[in-house]
Amino acid sequence: PLPPPFQAPLPIPAVLAPAGTAGGTDRYEITQRQASAQILPGVQTPLWTYNGTFPGPTIESRRGRPVTVTHHNRLPVPTVVHLHGGRTPAASDGYPTDLVLPEGWQEAGHGMGHGGHGMQGMRDPRAVRSRLTRDYTFPLDQRPTLLWYHDHRMDFTAPAIWRGLAGLHIVRDDAEEALGLPSGRRELPLVIADRAFAADGSLAYPALDPALRARPGVRDPYLAGVLGDVILVNGAPWPLHEADAARYRLRVLNASNARHYELEAVLDDGRRLDLVQVGADQGLLAAPVAHRSLPIAPAERYDVVVDFAKVPVGGRVRIVNRLGSGRTRDVMAFRVVRKAADHSRVPRVLSRDLPEWRRSDAVRVRDFSFRAGRMHGGHGWLIGGLPFDPARTDVTARLGDVEVWRLVADVHHPVHLHLVGFRVLSRGGRAPLPHDAGLKDTVSLRPGESAEIITRFDGYRGRYLFHCHNAEHEDMGMMANLEII
Ligand code: C2O
Ligand code: CU
Repeated sequence: PLPPPFQAPLPIPAVLAPAGTAGGTDRYEITQRQASAQILPGVQTPLWTYNGTFPGPTIESRRGRPVTVTHHNRLPVPTVVHLHGGRTPAASDGYPTDLVLPEGWQEAGHGMGHGGHGMQGMRDPRAVRSRLTRDYTFPLDQRPTLLWYHDHRMDFTAPAIWRGLAGLHIVRDDAEEALGLPSGRRELPLVIADRAFAADGSLAYPALDPALRARPGVRDPYLAGVLGDVILVNGAPWPLHEADAARYRLRVLNASNARHYELEAVLDDGRRLDLVQVGADQGLLAAPVAHRSLPIAPAERYDVVVDFAKVPVGGRVRIVNRLGSGRTRDVMAFRVVRKAADHSRVPRVLSRDLPEWRRSDAVRVRDFSFRAGRMHGGHGWLIGGLPFDPARTDVTARLGDVEVWRLVADVHHPVHLHLVGFRVLSRGGRAPLPHDAGLKDTVSLRPGESAEIITRFDGYRGRYLFHCHNAEHEDMGMMANLEII
């Protein structure tokens, strides 16, 4: 039986302490291991975790101060760690075949891939740099924002994230802190993820191979993506948070595999609070944007200030998903429990360093379709008519070049580029929508929609990815290689 909504306290993922700091680098240790947690009342849920919790521990970093994270794999399958939104050298970017192997894993006998395309990846000499432990180095020379780390193993990303392999990594700097946005216990990370549970409390996922060893993919009715009927925030079902009558900064991540949300903050009398957006995937906006409701696709992040001073003490604000129905309409709630002083502000100018690339800066325009199709005799999701193949280079871009990409979708596809942030230039042939503001790394294409994005390939040379962040689409082919030269 599912718990009533708005009872469980909102957990806050613990901030990980560095195992050491030397030479201006912070060093962290994370062990990927099985654990269990009481998510639903009275039952234990077995999970795959970073350091024993879901979400994993949060890493807090300063802009430009490098971090090394050593990952140990004590799970029964290989894993890959990707820092989503990180401006990361290719060797630490978590390419889907750059595996961290578990103890005793024998490559032979574990055929990966639809019809063997994964095997090709394994034979690619560039792709195999495998160990039981791996050091990921993140320079974090980038705009401050909310990043997240998650599994990225070829063909098995969706079930691995579903089982719990996701955590936050926040980058901060002095300029952002000087703005006076709500902070301390009035800054809350909100990791929203839907999950389905079996009666014994275990997570239900329709994997073709529940061991996640050999055969990737999901059973037929789930090809469009796997949805759950329980909405978790920071790992708790429909939680409640007791708040001051003051402004709060909510750092929202949609860590769901496939579910889209359109969030609203609704008072018990039906009034709605503005969601004042101050940041996007890749950091602060130029100026705040007030939304009545805010769509958020898988992997997108929104940095939002909500003012609970407009709520009477004792009042409740429900965060609801306009796209949900029944139990999936509710997300979480805040109970305003006390009056309190509030010295926070939302300045009218938030940042002056947003890149303003113009169409005329672009040296190239590329077109990509994101559509369903056949792959290796089965159902697949294709970019430009092709399923992912680690042995093929799909795009070669030159470091420093500005390019415009035109993306077109059949159904909903949140499209993500590794390494770079981009601006949305247009959507459906028109000006971008209010929530497209700022620097993005994931753009949500709606069914039948096209969008243009503009970016500069900046940072590092090497092999990166772009893909749909519906995690099931990603596993079923909707990913491509981006080589920066
Ligand atoms: Cu959030 Cu390629 O990933
Ligand atoms: Cu997709």
